[in-house]
Amino acid sequence: MTYENLRLEVADGIATLTIDRPKALNALNQATFHELEAALGSLGATTRALIVTGGGEKAFVAGADIAEMAAYSSEQGRAFSALGQRVMGLMEAAPFPIIAAVNGFALGGGLELALACDLIYASDKAQLGLPEVGLAVIPGFGGTQRLTRAVGLQRARELIFTGARIKADKAKEIGLVLEVLPPEQLLPHCREVAAKIIAAGPLAIAQAKRVIAQGADANLQVANMIEQQAFGALFGTEDQKQGMSSFLAKAKPVFQGR
Ligand code: CAA
Repeated sequence: MTYENLRLEVADGIATLTIDRPKALNALNQATFHELEAALGSLGATTRALIVTGGGEKAFVAGADIAEMAAYSSEQGRAFSALGQRVMGLMEAAPFPIIAAVNGFALGGGLELALACDLIYASDKAQLGLPEVGLAVIPGFGGTQRLTRAVGLQRARELIFTGARIKADKAKEIGLVLEVLPPEQLLPHCREVAAKIIAAGPLAIAQAKRVIAQGADANLQVANMIEQQAFGALFGTEDQKQGMSSFLAKAKPVFQGR
């Protein structure tokens, strides 16, 4: 399938999705969200990890498309928020880990897109922020909630109230990104991380992703119960038998995702 605003490549179980609208620094318009939805839906069971990045040198994603939003009514604004939130939700619900390779500006909806990924790595050229209040709106693709969960209430308030753009090093210092890399090492690093992940049992990775996300929004007792059920369910898989018997036989496991 070909897309107007995206590129999707899959190699050795690792998909790379590049948001590619250079004329608008990869800003997210409705069409791009629909393409993102289609692209995510097209990834079958052979996809074990996804890397999301931005096309060109300058931007990961410079936000929601301001030109498209400028004349929105209140109802159109709410519907656009719902569309963005739905696509971010699909990313969280995907059974494979998603890695954001933040190669440049990740502002507004762009940072929100990164926050919907499981792991965020950034180039030393990246700048991150939620500048929406400067446009007299607020983050609308889950940013008020996911940034708060990522960096805590006060940091999130500071970033959202001031609309500040922070550099990658500062983003690492506050726990918003995991590592800062030279631009040419960003994608190779993300691929290395993805390769480590896909060597593991895919059902275990899917359960770990789900349990971490669901547990984060539950109290500890409920969260531990979610973990317990997933742990037990994995003992009903062929991969668990393969993983543990291979360990005991000092052999390399071959996982089938069953
Ligand atoms: N939407 C639409 N077009 C955008 C855009 C956006 N978010 N960001 C950049 N562009 C366009 C510019 O309008 C410009 O187009 P023209 O060449 O046709 O004039 C082109 O991309 C290049 O941008 P600049 O000339 O501005 O590049 P720069 O290097 O001077 O600045 C920048 C780069 C600091 C990222 C600046 O473009 C910028 O501030 N962009 C907007 C960032 C922003 O406010 N994002 C939040 C959007 S609101 C949102 O995301 C809402 C939500 O949560 C749902």
